Amino acid sequence: MSGDPTPALAPHGLRCAHLAEPLGIGDPAPLLAWRLSSSRRGAAQARYRVRVWTVPARPAEGEEQVWDTGEVADPDAVSVRYAGAPLRPRTRYRWEVAVTGADGATAAAASWFETGMLGPAEWRASWITHDTGDLDVVDAPEEGELALADHGLQPAIRLRRAFRTAAAPVRARLYVTARGLYEMRLNGRRAGDAELAPGWTDYRDRVDYQVYDVTALVTAGENVLAGTLADGWWSGFVGFDPRRLGAHYGDFPELLAELHLDYADGAHEVVATGGDWLTRRSPVRYADLLKGECHDLRRETPGWDRPASGGTASSGTAFSGTGWLPAQVTGTDHGLLTAAVAPPVRAVEELPARAVTRTGADRHLVDFGQNFAGRVRLHARGLTPGARVVIRHAEALDDDGGLYTDNLRTADATDVLIAGDDPEAVFEPRFTYHGFRYAEVTGLAELDAADITGVVLHNDTPWAGEFACSDPDVERLYQAIRWGQRSNFVSVPTDCPQRDERLGWLADAQVFLPTACLNADVAAFFAGWLREVRGAQSPGGAFPNVAPRLAGVADEGAPGWGDAGVIVPWHLYRVYGDERFLADNLDAMRAWVDHVHRHNPDLVWRHRVGPHFADWLAPEPTPREVVATAYFARSAGLTARAAGVLGRRDAEERYGALARDVRAAFAEHFVTPDGRVAGDTQTGYLLALAFGLLPEGLVRPAAHRLAELVEAAGPGITTGFLGVGLLAPVLDECGRPDLAHALLRRTDPPSWLHPLRHGATTIWERWDGYTEERGFQAAAMNSFNHYALGSIGEWLYQGVAGLGQAPGSAGYRELLIRPRPGELDWARAAYESVRGTVRTAWARADGELRLEVAVPPGATAIVHVPAGDPGGVREGGVPVAEAAGVEVLGTEPGALRCRVSSGDYRFTAADPAAALRAAAPAAHIHRGAGPRFEEDT
Ligand code: BGC
Repeated sequence: MSGDPTPALAPHGLRCAHLAEPLGIGDPAPLLAWRLSSSRRGAAQARYRVRVWTVPARPAEGEEQVWDTGEVADPDAVSVRYAGAPLRPRTRYRWEVAVTGADGATAAAASWFETGMLGPAEWRASWITHDTGDLDVVDAPEEGELALADHGLQPAIRLRRAFRTAAAPVRARLYVTARGLYEMRLNGRRAGDAELAPGWTDYRDRVDYQVYDVTALVTAGENVLAGTLADGWWSGFVGFDPRRLGAHYGDFPELLAELHLDYADGAHEVVATGGDWLTRRSPVRYADLLKGECHDLRRETPGWDRPASGGTASSGTAFSGTGWLPAQVTGTDHGLLTAAVAPPVRAVEELPARAVTRTGADRHLVDFGQNFAGRVRLHARGLTPGARVVIRHAEALDDDGGLYTDNLRTADATDVLIAGDDPEAVFEPRFTYHGFRYAEVTGLAELDAADITGVVLHNDTPWAGEFACSDPDVERLYQAIRWGQRSNFVSVPTDCPQRDERLGWLADAQVFLPTACLNADVAAFFAGWLREVRGAQSPGGAFPNVAPRLAGVADEGAPGWGDAGVIVPWHLYRVYGDERFLADNLDAMRAWVDHVHRHNPDLVWRHRVGPHFADWLAPEPTPREVVATAYFARSAGLTARAAGVLGRRDAEERYGALARDVRAAFAEHFVTPDGRVAGDTQTGYLLALAFGLLPEGLVRPAAHRLAELVEAAGPGITTGFLGVGLLAPVLDECGRPDLAHALLRRTDPPSWLHPLRHGATTIWERWDGYTEERGFQAAAMNSFNHYALGSIGEWLYQGVAGLGQAPGSAGYRELLIRPRPGELDWARAAYESVRGTVRTAWARADGELRLEVAVPPGATAIVHVPAGDPGGVREGGVPVAEAAGVEVLGTEPGALRCRVSSGDYRFTAADPAAALRAAAPAAHIHRGAGPRFEEDT
């Protein structure tokens, strides 16, 4: 930390394994990463040095350095994989990165990470549960309420263990997991803030554990470690398979926990789950992700999570052993325990009730103004003993203003509070979640807006991007896209949060991924999910359609679905620059491509297409073989490129040759000599263009035809899930951003703004989920919170605001700043890339267009400055040719192209609007450099 007092370059945003200050790292060689910022143009890192030390629980023991990279001359690196002394389990490490700029000045930043168990041998806890013979039957359904009888719902259970400490520990960590869902408490206080933990994995393959710092919760003397266990994905209802309602993995939940205590005198103690725990039925009569949760306050056991001495018998708050039984030990198997890699689900935001309307004597309708995934917290008043308060949830209202729940299918999404003696109670279910905007509360004579709050749940992936523009409709669309992401990143990337589905559908995830990565840092979230995708691969190499895989949901991946196993790791590599995404997945990617190839030796993918969903929910069908073969080529090509990045030359050549052959087969079977793609649909051309499947001379005719089709439709959209994300980027690349803008502005279906005109606050599953003429689409499949069609979000950043990464670049080493103003007045975007902050902002006024660009240190950017007169562009007030750090590359219709190094730039140019309007847009396809897609590089 020497040198210049205001160094040009400074590291910030330190992450380990893509997480800030993580507890419980299980990777023996985690990635240590930093971002760079700079106040000076052209600043770049010349070298870096990373050092790592242990941080002992007892400061007296002193730190020990375990790694020093030494000075590494590398202008590009913004991360390094730990390669020091073997990491020890359950140990905190402090690390520091010092970066030295080209000017010789050094700046440093520090962070920490902590390892988890690092292997099954570290564990000593037993799996424990309640005596299932002691379970009671759920209340019989009341008229008009839930059909509980056939649900087989069972109570959540409570567990506790009292222990004594001679002194307060200097460090206390809780390592905990469940087959089911757990919530842990220490001395009456919540331990950790993870929700729906340990999350959904294929529990037959792995069970994630979490680690919490509970040092502040343990005291000298009597302590109680306690928890509640519910069914969750383990033994509750998951998905829609009618043959197997619930209990996909097991019948009853189990807990496994270890509390590790370090004392100032060097002693170390462990309190672990085992036969010395007590268990009891909890007041949670049942809790199910799809059905809802029922909390019966008459069964509350005061003081259950505190030491017996912590309350008084007279006040009824002391723990009494009544009804508690010794825990049943069900096993000591630790072989499947894995450290969680994703940020947990958390209660990330609270939404106030926007409106509360009385709809009956004891019934109120609450509108939170936003469709979201989560639960409510209800402050109930005026309760009489045994009274039931029932909360139902819905995304929409029917024509009579009541809850519209038909589209939830068998997900009851109903929570019930049964009152005890107290006239007031706060009810917030913990082991369920719903997708909803409206809640109907029955059983309370009075309900004020202040009495009810929406609690938003999702994986706590840090926000990375922001977009705004002058069109309020487009801004609302952008917000709906973000809410779609938030509502569907709940443990795994789901299709929807409301109905009896909520599955990790692979195509939904891959088409939305580029947008998701711009909105938030989803590296760790997807690293976690990819374990499920790989784990669900069949021995023959078929990726699944959903991950975690689920018996009964069509197992063998369909085109575009199974291919997510290739596309997702590749895209994550491109965004985050971490080769581990490729190294971890390359074998699986190869096996998938081999599987498709083996069954389709003539290179047209006709066989083993799984449930072939084609261009799902498209208004106009694209021939199935066109869709499938395009994806075959795409997966083979990306597998070759992944192999290339990893230096696996044989595989690179083999899959590269296969990709070329599949492209040739595509052209031979599906492309006419004048560039028509079989079926003549938007999606056919989009796939062919975006995936580079057309012979050189046919790209422009195909692009032209695509534009014609879009124009002929209105301009309009005829794509489904697989085509939609490509529409705007491909039209843009083909010189027709005007058409992309036209689609964006459209308000009748199919369009992005149609749902917003009908009150949508999230993206709908279907273009016509509701229309004025017909009302709601078929209830059997009509989610109002599916993110797939929200994949236009990528182009809002990359096209409208112009913030993107150049083809061929990884980890934002080379940016592509190419705003497409259309008829907007201004737009801006900011993105926290792995290298540092990227910003673009443009605005037009008085015939002038200004473009501001910020490029992080170590990156370069190709900037297309929209300009009516490309020769007259200025930067920082001087002609662009004279500006420092700017290299002019050339001009194109309506823009000047230049390359800039890191730093902040302000371009000004004559507003291109007039010039662009004058040019016949279709002509652009035949001029300039021609379309350039990622696949070409
Ligand atoms: C899901 C989709 C999924 C599809 C497969 C639907 O039920 O909600 O989003 O991709 O099935 O076609």
